[in-house]
Amino acid sequence: MQDIDIKKHLIVPLDFPNAAEALETVKELEGVVDYLKVGKQLFTAAGPDFVRELLKMGFKVFLDLKFHDIPNTVASAGIEAARLGVDMFNIHVSGGRAMMETTADKVKSFCEENSIPKPIILGVTVLTSLSSEDLNEIGYRNSAEEQVRLFCKLAKASGLDGVVASAGEVKIVKEECGKGFITVTPGIRPLWAAADDQKRIVTPRKAIEDGSDYIVVGRPVTKAKDKKEAVRRLLED
Ligand code: C5P
Repeated sequence: MQDIDIKKHLIVPLDFPNAAEALETVKELEGVVDYLKVGKQLFTAAGPDFVRELLKMGFKVFLDLKFHDIPNTVASAGIEAARLGVDMFNIHVSGGRAMMETTADKVKSFCEENSIPKPIILGVTVLTSLSSEDLNEIGYRNSAEEQVRLFCKLAKASGLDGVVASAGEVKIVKEECGKGFITVTPGIRPLWAAADDQKRIVTPRKAIEDGSDYIVVGRPVTKAKDKKEAVRRLLED
């Protein structure tokens, strides 16, 4: 059994409807969590100012807005994410090679010209909410697993730094793209927590031992009475 430093791997999503509620949780997590995720809900409600506030407090931020548009539009949004100072953001692999390449290139040049650190750019492979039947219905002929295999290779070839995938797919990603290709995995539940609406769940320890670089764990931490204690107990299997 590996000795794991949970702080290095944990990303806590701030799935809240406003800045005030998010901030309450953030304050309780100071000291035990380094990385926070701001997604579509909170970003739509609280905007870049709230992200700046988190960065000022010393947190790392994963901006989970899953951009998908024409290459120039996504690259421009990526540059604004870099200017904002986030440490990680994501784009859909299904947006295609040109969209990913343009974004990776333009963000890199922007960061070099402005001497700022380049955020990690992740590709969203196949949303875990989609079954193979759902994929078929929208015209994908591959199974979800085959599609993930194809998408992670394409993301790497297009210059991205890693992918978001389910913990069950980490081995495929590392097999196809190598150890250095970053994987971020949601759908994580410690044995002591409720599954909520997550279906194919994996424990934090198993996900990290299988090669997840970062695990996204939300409600088991954010809904806990003692949030610091919940973080401490994440590796209890
Ligand atoms: O509370 P919970 O741990 O289920 O939160 C997981 C987070 O990861 C949420 O922000 C959710 O939107 C996100 N996510 C997910 N499954 C995916 C992609 C993202 O649960 N396939």
